[in-house]
Amino acid sequence: MDTTASTLDPARVASGQPDPIDSLPASFRWGVATSSYQIEGAVAEDGRTPSIWDTFCRVPGAVHKGEHGDIACDHYHRMPSDVGLMRDLEVDTYRFSVAWPRVQPGGRGPANPAGLAFYDRLVDELLAQGIDPWVTLYHWDLPQELEDAGGWPARDTAYRFADYSMLVFDQLSDRVRTWTTLNEPWCSAMLGYAYGRHAPGKRDFGAGMHAVHHLLLGHGLATQRMRAAAPGPIDLGITLNMSTSVAATESEPDVHAARRADGLGVRIYLDPLRHGRYPQDIVADLAARGIELPVQEGDLEIISAPIDVLGVNYYFSTQHSGVDEQGRTEDADGLPVSREVPFGRPRTAMDWEIVPEGFTELLVRLSRDYPDLPMVITENGSAFDDEPDANGFVQDDDRIGYFVSHLGAVALARQQGADIRGYFAWSLMDNFEWAYGYDKRFGIIRVDYDTQVRTPKASALWYRDTIRRIRNAGN
Ligand code: FCB
Repeated sequence: MDTTASTLDPARVASGQPDPIDSLPASFRWGVATSSYQIEGAVAEDGRTPSIWDTFCRVPGAVHKGEHGDIACDHYHRMPSDVGLMRDLEVDTYRFSVAWPRVQPGGRGPANPAGLAFYDRLVDELLAQGIDPWVTLYHWDLPQELEDAGGWPARDTAYRFADYSMLVFDQLSDRVRTWTTLNEPWCSAMLGYAYGRHAPGKRDFGAGMHAVHHLLLGHGLATQRMRAAAPGPIDLGITLNMSTSVAATESEPDVHAARRADGLGVRIYLDPLRHGRYPQDIVADLAARGIELPVQEGDLEIISAPIDVLGVNYYFSTQHSGVDEQGRTEDADGLPVSREVPFGRPRTAMDWEIVPEGFTELLVRLSRDYPDLPMVITENGSAFDDEPDANGFVQDDDRIGYFVSHLGAVALARQQGADIRGYFAWSLMDNFEWAYGYDKRFGIIRVDYDTQVRTPKASALWYRDTIRRIRNAGN
């Protein structure tokens, strides 16, 4: 089978242009990513206690078909063979997350040795197969007890996170060089506390904003402590999900709607992280809603502690209007209208529009507004309605097409000066896609949930061949 990129972008081939992917350097890092709750299962084993996701999955109507992560991909029991699949993909790095309630049941107190031991074994197995471990400390599985004590809107959770981080760091930092504190704090804060679509399912915009600050504070506290305790060279960072927010027209309401989306999606995180201040326009917008970020003296200094790498997760971009369908610019609560307007692009099974040039634009803009910070694409990928053949093989040309256009977008951003060092495909294998349950498949490896059989899809073969091609080209 021909899995070369050039067969898959007829427009580019017709134009005779070289494939931008071929400009990536041989030193580029290639990986696959997963997260603990989405793949591990074994939710009550070896001392693990419930996380907010175990609880949320039991709320009627919260998750598609009432599904949950009790078994998921059963990775907890199949870890060595899953690492073998990574080796066959020829990736050099694996990004995984650690389940807080496994390592520190209940979210306080000493480490649970049996829980930590799983990640010890995982790291050793990866290293034995020549794969670099990249640890994410928090990918959304907050211990339920900490939610009961107030969750991320409560300041204390930031300190609990830093304590937990050190339990993991002390155990693994002799073998793990790269550490991400948080995955996508926007999702934790907004989907979890403001919009109620993710655990813990709260719908309180002000609580979401308090969560933003305390997530960032937790990141800063953990970063400072890990830096101080590092036994050797170390790369610390955070992963943000970001998009390019485009104004639907040049009208003032549309321009402001795009500004607000960018402010709450990008700048409210990166301005404090990199510039030690919150964006003034967003602070003013919040004040107009009676909301103040719970900033205490010294917090911004902690939050802006130096980092070594920014993780960028990209899936789509969005277009915004400040005018509703009836032509109004204010909603019933007197707030400015913020409405998403489609670009009219093809969509993935998540209903996300496919906008690769928004990726290039985002990366170039990040390198301009937040300079001197290497970036790694810590997630990028797509869900489509896969149709396996009788052997479980999926010829997922749509997913390959998504990878081709988005890796190309990364390569173009590098050509324009963005310092991007690597790329992780989301995801190694199909897994529990949060509120969508097992319905949406992002894997480059298919998982048959009845048998737990894993079958590499065409996209996995394409990914392996692309990695080989770039490595061997020796740019
Ligand atoms: C990101 C999450 C990841 C996965 C992808 C599709 O927001 O970090 O866990 O669900 O989306």
